[in-house]
Amino acid sequence: MGLLNMETEIFDYGMNGEGVAKIDGKIALVPYALIGEKVDVEIVADNKNYCQTKLNKIISPSKNRVAPPCPYFYTCGGCALQHMSYAEQLKFKTSLVKKTIKKIANLDVDVEPCVACENGFNYRNKTSFVFNGNFGFYKFNSKNIVAVSACKIASENINKVLTLAQNFFCDKPYKDELKNLVVRDINNQLLVGVVAKKFLKIDDFYAILTKNFKKIGLFLIINKRNDAVVLTNNCLHIGGIEQIEIKNFNLKYYVDLLGFHQTNLYIQNKIYERVLQLVGKATYNNNSLNSNQKNIINGFSGAGLLSAILATSGDKVYGIEISKSSHKSSEKLKSDNKIENLINICGDFNSKFKKLNADLLVIDPPKKGIGAKALEQIVGVKEIIYISCNPIALAKELRYLKNYYIIENIMPFDMFPNTNSVETIVKLKLKES
Ligand SMILES: C[S@@+](CC[C@H](N)C(=O)[O-])C[C@H]1O[C@@H](n2cnc3c(N)ncnc32)[C@H](O)[C@@H]1O
Repeated sequence: MGLLNMETEIFDYGMNGEGVAKIDGKIALVPYALIGEKVDVEIVADNKNYCQTKLNKIISPSKNRVAPPCPYFYTCGGCALQHMSYAEQLKFKTSLVKKTIKKIANLDVDVEPCVACENGFNYRNKTSFVFNGNFGFYKFNSKNIVAVSACKIASENINKVLTLAQNFFCDKPYKDELKNLVVRDINNQLLVGVVAKKFLKIDDFYAILTKNFKKIGLFLIINKRNDAVVLTNNCLHIGGIEQIEIKNFNLKYYVDLLGFHQTNLYIQNKIYERVLQLVGKATYNNNSLNSNQKNIINGFSGAGLLSAILATSGDKVYGIEISKSSHKSSEKLKSDNKIENLINICGDFNSKFKKLNADLLVIDPPKKGIGAKALEQIVGVKEIIYISCNPIALAKELRYLKNYYIIENIMPFDMFPNTNSVETIVKLKLKES
C-alpha cells in the first residue's frame, strides 16, 4: 500500500537513470520517468534523505520518451534505459560522470560528450543466461529469475543459440542439474558453454548447434559452487572450435570462453583508438623501434590486446594481468604477432608494478577500481590514462589522485547502450612540484 499519491515534475536523473523529483522539499526517485515529465506517483518507502516512489501515470510525456522494444523491460534487471531516446541516454551518461566526480571527488570537471555506439541493440557479444527450468536473467537487485525467449541487447546469433537450448533442455529429465548457458559470438564464430552441477551428456546438443552454425564450439563446464561465479576451470571441450580468431588493429589474436574480453567490439575499438590518441598516435609506426623508447605499463591488461597495440609505438610495454588464462592468451598474441618490445607479466598489479619504472601508466581495472595500496604506489608516474567501468569507483580514486595530478581530459563511452553503465577514460598529468 502506497503512503501518498501525488503529482510531481522530474528535474534530474539518479545514478540508475530513474527520474528525480521533489515532494514536500524531499528528493523522490521515480522509476522510468524522464526529465521534464509531469507524473503521478505513490510513495512506497519514505527514507531519511529521500523517498522511493512507484510511477502510477505519466501526465505529460517527454519528447525523449520512446516505447521500450523489449517485452521484459519492466521486469528484467538487465536494461534500465529502454524508455529513453538514445540522444537522451548519451546526455544522461555524460552528466552522470560529471555529477559523480563533483559529488565524490569535489571536482568541477569538463566532460566530453559520451561517445555513441553504432547500435543500441544486438551489440553484446557475450551473454550468460541463468536456468531454473527456463532460461532467463535475475531481476534487478533480486534472486528471482525472469524467463526470457530472447534478449534485445545480445547478438542475433546468441538469441538463436538460446532458442535451440530452450528447445533442447527445457523438457529433459536432467534439467535440475543445469545452471547456466553462456554464449560468446564474435564475427560469426561462437563458443557455447553449458554450465551444470555435474557431468551431462550433451553430444546431441552439439549436433544441433553444428547444423545451425558453421563455426561453433561447445563446452561443458562443471560448477559445484553456490556463489555467483558462473565459469570455472573445470571445462570439458565437447566439440568444434576451441577459440575465436580475431583480426583487429593489424593483429591476429584468439579469444576463449573463459577469459575476459570486452563485450562490445565497436566501443572497445573506440576506447583503444582514444588511448592511442592520448599517448600521441603520431609516434605509432608499426613496431619499428623507437629511439626515444619509453616504458609504458598497462595494468589490468586482460588478454593483452591493448598492450600489444601500445607496443606498436616501439616503446617498451609491460602488461600486468592476474588471470593465468588471460596471461596465456596475451603470450600467444605476443608470439603470433612477433612483438618483441612487449613483456607480459602474470600477477597482482600491486606487487608487480613497484619493480617497474613507468613513464606512462594505462590502467583498466575491474569495477572496484585499483584500491588504496595501488593508488599510493602509482603516484609519481608522469602520465596516467585511467579506463574505468564504474564512475563511483573512478570518482573515489580521483579524490585521492587530484592531490598530485591535473585532470587533462575526461571522455565517457557508451559500451552498454540501453543500460545505466558507462565507461570513462581519464587522462591525468603529474602536477609540477
Ligand atoms: C576490465 S578488465 C580489462 C582487461 C583489458 N584491459 C581489456 O580491455 O580487455 C580488468 C582485468 O583486470 C584483471 N585483474 C583483476 N585484478 C587484478 C590485479 N589485482 N592485478 C592484475 N590484474 C587484475 C582481470 O583479470 C581483468 O582481466
